[in-house]
Amino acid sequence: MSKAKYTVTAALPYANGPLHLGHVAGVYLPADIFVRFLRMNHHDVAFICGSDEHGAAITLRAKKEGITPQEIVDKYNGIIGKAFQDFNISFDIFHRTSAEIHHKTSQDFFLKLYEKGKFTEETSEQYYDEEYQQFLADRYITGECPKCHNPGAYGDQCEKCGSDLSPTELIHPTSTLSGKTPVLKTTSHWYLPMANHEEWLREWIKEGKLDGVQQHDPKPWRNQVIGQCMSWIDGGLHSRAMTRDLDWGVKVPLPNADGKVLYVWLDAPIGYISATKQWALDNNKNWEDYWKGDRKLIHFIGKDNIVFHAVIFPILLKDHGDLILPDNVPAYEFLNLEGAKFSTSRNWAVWLHEYLETYPGKEDELKYVLTSIAPETKDSEFTWKEYQTRINSELADILGNFVNRALVLTQKYYEGKVPARGELTQEDLNVLGEIKAIPERISKLVYAYKLRDAQAEAMNLARLGNKYLADQEPWKLVKTDPLRVETIMNIALQITANLSVVLQPFLPTTAKKLSHFVNFTTTNWEDAGREDLLQAGAMTNTPEILFQKIEDTLVEHEVAKLKNTIQENTPIQNSEAMELIFEPQKPEIAFDDFTKMDIRLGKILAAEKVEKADKLLKLLVDTGLDKRTIVSGIAEHYLPEEVIGKTVQVLMNLAPRKIRGIESQGMILMAENEKNELSFLVPEKEFNGGCGIH
Ligand code: MF3
Ligand code: ZN
Repeated sequence: MSKAKYTVTAALPYANGPLHLGHVAGVYLPADIFVRFLRMNHHDVAFICGSDEHGAAITLRAKKEGITPQEIVDKYNGIIGKAFQDFNISFDIFHRTSAEIHHKTSQDFFLKLYEKGKFTEETSEQYYDEEYQQFLADRYITGECPKCHNPGAYGDQCEKCGSDLSPTELIHPTSTLSGKTPVLKTTSHWYLPMANHEEWLREWIKEGKLDGVQQHDPKPWRNQVIGQCMSWIDGGLHSRAMTRDLDWGVKVPLPNADGKVLYVWLDAPIGYISATKQWALDNNKNWEDYWKGDRKLIHFIGKDNIVFHAVIFPILLKDHGDLILPDNVPAYEFLNLEGAKFSTSRNWAVWLHEYLETYPGKEDELKYVLTSIAPETKDSEFTWKEYQTRINSELADILGNFVNRALVLTQKYYEGKVPARGELTQEDLNVLGEIKAIPERISKLVYAYKLRDAQAEAMNLARLGNKYLADQEPWKLVKTDPLRVETIMNIALQITANLSVVLQPFLPTTAKKLSHFVNFTTTNWEDAGREDLLQAGAMTNTPEILFQKIEDTLVEHEVAKLKNTIQENTPIQNSEAMELIFEPQKPEIAFDDFTKMDIRLGKILAAEKVEKADKLLKLLVDTGLDKRTIVSGIAEHYLPEEVIGKTVQVLMNLAPRKIRGIESQGMILMAENEKNELSFLVPEKEFNGGCGIH
């Protein structure tokens, strides 16, 4: 069977600001790992990206910085492009949507759909800013969300509740240009009717079948992706305007369309195609090979881009005809930073280009940490403390330590020559078995887009090596059994050579260094798992230290820097609070609802684990009124002996429930922080069990 061919895209970042670690962890780094792995496995791959240079995101930024949209996109295309290069992201092309070829490609695309009758032209009343003489769509208009009543919702979307909105749904609409209330004025646009696409979309997204034919892999897409698409489709797919009244963007290629441009979410994804065209031109290839026929199209994106890539763009591609639809849309959740959401306006961010300038040569360290915490299935968090811990206790203490020992001992005992292997013990055989098994496991994980686990599996090889040397203690044996030591060191060096292969997709610079240490280079994944990568007698090189440990001062400095910029950037009038990553307030309740709850202090008298339930503790609680049994989900946080004697808050009158066969008579109340750590709520004075809490 011939190898599957791939066109892999990473969401085109808006050229309206630099990239922060959230973007990197949830789009560009995973895409890069995936592509590097595919290349090592000889798939034909095109890896496409570029900057998204149209839309209100750009023009509003230009207004804010007091320069033209063109100057904005030139500035940030440069900064972003350079950061990608310095961070070693291996795009085949990093293009831009302001390029001529893109304007032409998206206009042709629009015309083709127009000629096929895929659009409807509709006239309607839309909000208009009289002072700026401009229609207000998308981010040009804000107001109160009709669903969650967030006062800062935009004309296209409420970022609080994720609802898809149109400007006329906003309560108290305000122009973001003049700050005034807009008026209604008539205009006409071309719309994409989407309602008649619901049926095939459902089948295609859930089962991968298009007109009954299996298209994408039968393995399902990520739950969050399917979930978001289904709830969107279930809400009914309304026609969506594909044009805007703006002067920045791709001109609508029709007569009588002066002052109209393509909707940015129409032109941007077509940017993947125009970038492929440019790359094909530059490299003597045919772009159509990458968008037609038997080939997998994969879109790496953040979760806020899901419906555009999994619903709207597929509709456009299908309407266009003869272009492939995505095989998978691996979407990432969000990365938070030190207890709060990344925020560009408040400068609560770690900027990729700044990191690279401050810590040159430490790209792999950042890659490692970001992949370890990548928000693959739920939101996750970057902290400088964790950055330090992951580098010090994993990269330095495990990978670095192992490789260093293996090579330094080889220098010392054999002047750098790989010793021969003799008779093998059971431990040796086990280790060799793992050398073979690990790459197979990595491979399965990568094809399933589980890059976080895949990297952890690659690190397991270093862990294995580290443990092998620690167990075998060649430095002791060398005096009594030098022949045995030759076998041990041969195996340790084979592990090192294998690491230079399996780490390539994740830590390309480190993998190169390893390659150099052991004098073995390959770009074939098939070499991973072999126990004879190094021949006896071959020379190795003196190693250098792979990873410097991160000092506490760096952590303190970076955290202080964040906290300082936030003070500078949060003037009083911008009284919007930091967006902490806690749940929003629940809907209002009446006082009576509150008084129905009977909450009292109790004391835990006894505690034991509930069998076959990792999370549950069975507690006996003295409530002052009685001694009752309460089953509580705290076993992953506390040992039974730690909680005995604790004073706790008890919700007394919660209806009893059977949990694992035990009747739980009430509930223990605990505080939980954003890292899901728990804390008891201890009274400030010595109060006895039984007192009420009001
Ligand atoms: N610029 C968009 C964002 O940052 C992503 C565009 S992806 C594309 O959210 F498909 F439209 F190109
Ligand atoms: Zn809302």
